Amino acid sequence: MTHVVVVGSGIAGITAALHAAASCEVTLVTKAALDAANTTFAQGGVAAALFEDDSPAAHARDTLAAGAGLADPAAVDVLTREGPERVRELRLRGVAFDRDAAGDLARGLEAAHSHPRVVHADGDATGRVIEHALIAALRASGVRVIEHAFLLDLVVDDAARVGGVALLVAGRRDILLADAVILATGGAGQLYAHTTNPAVATGDGIAAALRAGAAVSDLEFVQFHPTVLAVGEPFLVSEAVRGEGATIIDDDGRRFLFDAHPDGELAARDVVARAIAQRMTRQNGRPVRLDATRVGASDAAAFLPRRFPTIDAAVGARGLDWAHQPIPVTPAAHYLMGGITTDLHGRTSLPGLYAVGECARTGVHGANRLASNSLLEAAVFGARAGDAVVPDAAAAAWPVISAPGVADVAITDRAAAAQSPAADAVPFSRAALQRVMWEQVGLARDAVGLARAAQALTGWAVHERTAHTVADHEDENLLLLARAVAAAATARTSSVGAHFRTDAPAAITTHPILAPAAPEPVRRVVFASDRMRSEHGSPLPARLEAS
Ligand code: SIN
Repeated sequence: MTHVVVVGSGIAGITAALHAAASCEVTLVTKAALDAANTTFAQGGVAAALFEDDSPAAHARDTLAAGAGLADPAAVDVLTREGPERVRELRLRGVAFDRDAAGDLARGLEAAHSHPRVVHADGDATGRVIEHALIAALRASGVRVIEHAFLLDLVVDDAARVGGVALLVAGRRDILLADAVILATGGAGQLYAHTTNPAVATGDGIAAALRAGAAVSDLEFVQFHPTVLAVGEPFLVSEAVRGEGATIIDDDGRRFLFDAHPDGELAARDVVARAIAQRMTRQNGRPVRLDATRVGASDAAAFLPRRFPTIDAAVGARGLDWAHQPIPVTPAAHYLMGGITTDLHGRTSLPGLYAVGECARTGVHGANRLASNSLLEAAVFGARAGDAVVPDAAAAAWPVISAPGVADVAITDRAAAAQSPAADAVPFSRAALQRVMWEQVGLARDAVGLARAAQALTGWAVHERTAHTVADHEDENLLLLARAVAAAATARTSSVGAHFRTDAPAAITTHPILAPAAPEPVRRVVFASDRMRSEHGSPLPARLEAS
């Protein structure tokens, strides 16, 4: 029977696993606990054309417009046409989306949507509700689950076919072979000093794909969310709050966003985030303020805790009272539009390797993702990839490895890829990398800053430390990805969407699909050929125990 390994346990990974499990054996591995995924933290909801006054075509138009001309119309068409079916599937899996007073499915408005079409659950806990429902479905499905298994690398044979994963489990390296691997490892918000993402978002799947030689694209397009609490740890304040009527004001109490765009607070996310950052520069770095005191028919004190219970708790925990006072907010890194290049079924440039969710670049987001399209993309393309693997494996020209077998692991010494530190380099630390990325490869970029970033990033070599904890591997992944993002941002010399160059603010270029964005030495875990196996009698890799 075909065996598929899914890496990652957010909505994309679990959806892919559940779909694949209909016709094959599936193992899902994840680096931490199952619910430690970006999905759990999603607030706003899922955008889909579910209502009679809406249509997939209107949703597609909004998605294409937000993408600043760089979204792929075919991918957007799939997203918006199949989205409603995936939302219905989530409901069948037990996700109770909120209802309004009349008992109808409730829907919110978010920035750059022409219709209110964002469905949500437990107010602003949509991701948590979805994640828990999907975990329950996964537990009941027969999919083998391995938690706390960190992806070290992809197993790639001499013909560049992916046939498994190398994992670090409880301090031990191990190999799990498969006929196909679906990466659903999420994004890389931890590249930045300020982010809405949880600690697990270190770009491990994209880094592994880069090392294996997979094509990636659009890595320069990093989305910064405009409104993150500027007191205490960064905490997302959903765009849905502005959708309910909250405004953004500066030090003078002025709604300045209409200077940037006629849609003001509901302009596309890149426009709003940039305008806020510029205003903060003008007011010596002080955060702007989100004024929610008049939402909910002017009964904010009753409305806010009911509609946004999670944010309300976070605001209260910081000693703020948002029903009566505007709260300080600032932009923070939120979402990576680029990633591992895929087709419309999650297939990557490497046979046997699929990518879904935030680690993938399907083309639906272009240069700027439309609010609440991320959970939708994960569900739509997770399902497509899960459905595609078995027919692909049956039709493939490459030999199918139908059970864990013999492997001979040759991991090139990480030190071989070391580059000598630049003379003026500060020692590597994750915090130093995050600062460089925030300052030079952040909301606004220019050639000088990007060159400085490239110099710092090139000078660092994580593996000069004795590197082999999960955190060390994460650091290595972040460094590889930071170099790739900086290289992609350098290569795109004009501004478009979330990629804003202060040295070329206006022009829009055509959209190149880049091969691996930063040429890095390719390191592969290589299958032994049959011949080598019989010569060397390699041992069977230890089987991993399911949790
Ligand atoms: C939000 O709730 O503002 C975030 C939703 C998203 O990232 O699409």
